[in-house]
Amino acid sequence: MEYFTLARVIHVLAVVLWIGGVAMVTTVIIPAVKNMKSKEDKIETFEKIEGRFAIQAKITTLITALSGFYMLYEMDAWGRYLDVKFWWIHAMTIVWILFTLVLFVLEPLVLHKLFKKYAEENPEKTFIIIHRAHWVLLTLSLITITGAIAGSHGWYFF
Ligand code: HEM
Repeated sequence: MEYFTLARVIHVLAVVLWIGGVAMVTTVIIPAVKNMKSKEDKIETFEKIEGRFAIQAKITTLITALSGFYMLYEMDAWGRYLDVKFWWIHAMTIVWILFTLVLFVLEPLVLHKLFKKYAEENPEKTFIIIHRAHWVLLTLSLITITGAIAGSHGWYFF
């Protein structure tokens, strides 16, 4: 049973480092980068910071999934995927799939090249789009965290 609690502790710590970082990039770093004067500074600063954070995000998404699936396995709670009361389990899984796709597939294969091209051509518009995408992911993550904490402690909203 302590292993289950340990998995929960690890799960929440990984989520804090991951989604906390997404919040920092969304509310502080991108607005600061948008205010920079030169295009070169904008691109270089954003690439350096986002590049470092990508490593942290990759590690924490993996740890979140391992600890999350371990908890489902220990509770033998796979049936929750068939019950809308547990919408927050679906939300956690969807948020994880979205970030995993972006971090491990889309960013290295497509997004990085697209960013380079469009940031050179039109940095203002590119950073507006990047900022919106971060807000969408952050909002989804915060709704998920709200549902997961409430649901884990017996409050299902409906
Ligand atoms: C594959 C992905 C994931 C799986 C399988 C998973 C699974 C779980 C499970 C089984 C629990 C415990 C539920 C219970 O006690 O009844 C849990 C709790 C939690 N999860 Fe996830 N999770 C995943 C991803 C995420 C993500 C992406 C987030 C954040 C965006 C997240 C945030 C949380 C939070 C905040 C809790 C509540 C902890 C508590 O209050 O005790 N999880 N998760």
